[in-house]
Amino acid sequence: MILDQFRIGPYLNFTYLVADEDGGEGVVIDPSFGIEPVLARIDERGVKVRYILNTHSHTDHVAGNADVRARTGAKVVAHRVAPLHQDVSVDDGDAFDTGRVRFEVVHTPGHTKDSVLYIFAGNVATGDTLFVGECGRTDLPGGNPAELYDSLQHRLLTLDDALVVLPGHDYGATPTSTIGRERAENYTLQPRTRAEFLKFLAE
Ligand SMILES: [Fe+2]
Repeated sequence: MILDQFRIGPYLNFTYLVADEDGGEGVVIDPSFGIEPVLARIDERGVKVRYILNTHSHTDHVAGNADVRARTGAKVVAHRVAPLHQDVSVDDGDAFDTGRVRFEVVHTPGHTKDSVLYIFAGNVATGDTLFVGECGRTDLPGGNPAELYDSLQHRLLTLDDALVVLPGHDYGATPTSTIGRERAENYTLQPRTRAEFLKFLAE
């Protein structure tokens, strides 16, 4: 499987190209600003991009949607409440296939109402719900600390420790991590009650 990570745009965003193999079917996750290197790699590898997967609707995660769509004809996939042009609207528990890769959707509101995880082939694209060593902010429109608590503690932390974490920004010590490492090391994921987490975020 191909899994290419691109750090692009002015906000240290990560965009991902996932495909079966060179010349195979694939997806682009969170096309950000400055999408040209990603388009060049798609051409180089001959990937047939079927879907654009948006982890949430913030501009820095969708800025490249139109260019990727125009170049490849890919369909835009986002959570059903995302205020975006959507070709495929998804919700918690949905799954879909591209080539031989299956993608599963987990709804994780908190950073935004429309935040989702995409789990595929031993990886989880976490968008701005979880970064390496940090969690997403909740002080932007649609952000909700209590929802983020539930998403982190009851959804993300129930995932397999071996899953590789593919975050939405390069904010950590390393560009990727694992659920197990984040469970052990990420200070935002330490055991807390909801009240303790709300107090922790407010500090
Ligand atoms: Fe965001």
